[in-house]
Amino acid sequence: MINAENPRKSKVIVALDVPCAKDISPLISQIPDEIEWYKVGLELFISEGNQAIEILTGMNKRIFLDLKLHDIPRTVERAVKTASQHSVGLLTVHASGGPAMLRAAATAAAECDNPPLIVAVTALTSLDQSDLTALGVSRDLKEHARALGRLAVDSGIDGLVCSPHEAAALRGDLGPAPILVTPGIRMPEGELGDQKRVATPADAVAAGSDFLVVGRPIVQADNPGSAARKILDQMYSAR
Ligand code: C5P
Repeated sequence: MINAENPRKSKVIVALDVPCAKDISPLISQIPDEIEWYKVGLELFISEGNQAIEILTGMNKRIFLDLKLHDIPRTVERAVKTASQHSVGLLTVHASGGPAMLRAAATAAAECDNPPLIVAVTALTSLDQSDLTALGVSRDLKEHARALGRLAVDSGIDGLVCSPHEAAALRGDLGPAPILVTPGIRMPEGELGDQKRVATPADAVAAGSDFLVVGRPIVQADNPGSAARKILDQMYSAR
């Protein structure tokens, strides 16, 4: 378990938001070796599948497989077990899959020799209050996200994916144990892209984030190595 090895030292995960497996090695070779974690999301996984994972494993990197599983409990259970056979270190599910699905994911991981840590997405940050209304959810968006966070943790899930702006509140609600994974990281001078609620690496660490997911500020930088270095240095200065 990551947290047992290294109790509360935040880490950077680089989001490999690239379309092709052939783009992976040239990018990683520019990034400081101390970044161990890389995120494989839907685009890369659908286009390249396990090849992307095998390349990362071959480079001794750790894998965050961000497929946001949301299915019947048995299907999720089998997906978790299969992910463990591919050395996936972190795997996402949707908290809105419900308690039985969440428990199935947690139980499946507990039965694996090399289990992924399971982290749950609460409410997608693309949803607003009117979307919740359309879905038949009447409670306030923030309350909804907090309730789903509580449900996930009570169901045995290891942690949550959340905005750095929600991290401190979730820490307050849920205590020190859950792993918090935060995208939406930008350096003070960085471009926002489509992210609206961003935080600097130092702010994310101060809010209690364990894993800072960084995509475009590194992947699309003219010099990904030096962009990653600046982010690491700011994170180290705060943790
Ligand atoms: O490029 P950027 O740093 O914004 O990338 C962040 C990564 O985290 C992307 O892969 C994006 O899909 C993901 N993500 C996010 N916001 C969420 C959930 C996931 O930015 N709420």
